[in-house]
Amino acid sequence: ASDDASVEDGGEVVVVSNRQPYRHEWRDGEIAVDRPTGGLTAGLDAVVRRIDGSWIAWGDGDADREVVDEDDCVAVPPDADDQYPLRRVWLTDDQVDGYYYGFSNRVLWPVCHGALTRVAEDSGAWDAYRGVNERFADAVAERTGPGDVVWLQDYHFGLVPRLLRSRLPDDVVVTQFWHIPWPGWDTFRACPHGEELLRGLLGNDLLVVHVDRYRQNFLDCVAAALPEATVDRDSGRVRHADGVTTVEAYPLGVDTERIAEHALSPAASERWDRLRSQYDLGDDVRLAVGVDRLDYTKGITERVDAVERLLERHPELRGEFTLLQVGSESRSRIPAYREVQTDVVEAVTRVNGRFRTDDWRPVVYTTDRLTDEELYTLFHNADLGVVSPIRDGMNLVAQEYVAAQAGGDGVLVLSRQAGVHDLVGDSAVSITPQDTDGFADGLYEALTMPEAERRERMAALVRRCRACDTEAWIDDVLGRVEHLRGDGVPE
Ligand code: G6P
Repeated sequence: ASDDASVEDGGEVVVVSNRQPYRHEWRDGEIAVDRPTGGLTAGLDAVVRRIDGSWIAWGDGDADREVVDEDDCVAVPPDADDQYPLRRVWLTDDQVDGYYYGFSNRVLWPVCHGALTRVAEDSGAWDAYRGVNERFADAVAERTGPGDVVWLQDYHFGLVPRLLRSRLPDDVVVTQFWHIPWPGWDTFRACPHGEELLRGLLGNDLLVVHVDRYRQNFLDCVAAALPEATVDRDSGRVRHADGVTTVEAYPLGVDTERIAEHALSPAASERWDRLRSQYDLGDDVRLAVGVDRLDYTKGITERVDAVERLLERHPELRGEFTLLQVGSESRSRIPAYREVQTDVVEAVTRVNGRFRTDDWRPVVYTTDRLTDEELYTLFHNADLGVVSPIRDGMNLVAQEYVAAQAGGDGVLVLSRQAGVHDLVGDSAVSITPQDTDGFADGLYEALTMPEAERRERMAALVRRCRACDTEAWIDDVLGRVEHLRGDGVPE
């Protein structure tokens, strides 16, 4: 991110997230440091390193406790000049069950993704969520001083902002980014403890979502659920018992430059050869790539169904087209996530059983943990990037595909139900994942699109993704924080 991304009067930015940017693990009797893959923690890590910041997160690595000081902090990155303190919050197994696997991922996640049949609140989950939010609020209060900015990430901390009101000096700005969709009122009204959550979130001075649709949805929910609040839809300001919350939409992006550099680096072509032989991808096969956590919101079986329909309708593509699907295990203690894992394998086995030949498979499925560099190499070389969520707050894989193309002529096949479609939909081939026929038509359109059109669309996609890359997003959020502070948040 640029040097502009800082708070002006010397205050510190305290980032708070559930997942930590560095994790310490025992490996072969030694302590090793892992960096989770993925854009956001890497992007924020770069900012916190450059400015005078710190980070608070759940300590979930099995060697995390071995490396912290008496304040539960460790300096990260290891061996760097620009280290910052990472404060670990320790949770018991019961807390993790209730807060993370329970309320966060069996209530809030399905509610916000409109998957109401998946909502399952176990008794104790809400208490655990509240308790863990208190723990984080305490940890934040211990590390925060006058003039600081608290920057909360995501749905794990819906109650923290309000809890911070009584714990922090007045001139601390509290802001939160909500990484998942915010649903309409008709859906959100099914959320257990929904009003308490809304009140919790209105403890923020600034609440940020990806796109304007989610912003309007949030304002609708507040207007419908909280009689004490006054909502000004144009300015996005909500006046309530604790003061004023401004709600903004700033879409999160990826580090387009870094991804393009990796995709074009000298090592990439050797990497591509290795990946091609590892996954048996023939020299001339047209390649589509999908990369997802194994989550029921990602539309992975729908994607495999569409490939099946494509090959039924266009037999000439048999032997000529392959979908490489990379799936990463996620939240496996939750039955619905284990079902996804089984369903994907079943769908892939079915389609391959129907169409495979001795030297070709229509779908290559792997749960290998690929590095960022390997993923960018796949994206760079794939004719199609296929992103087909049933619902998704943004979807950074779509943006990574575009960035890794780095001037290429690949086609993005994109679900209308991903937040990123609001930004780039008219340059992608839009599909609805549940409409198998239409999805298959979209794949066919992408595979037969003339080169000039492919290049034109990709150039437009690159421009849009650059305009909202990680750097722009960080500048937007921290710029708005400074603006609010300058204005003096109205009482
Ligand atoms: C989504 C959420 C993130 C979360 C990620 C991975 O993108 O918005 O907060 O970190 O999924 O999920 P996990 O549950 O493994 O952290």
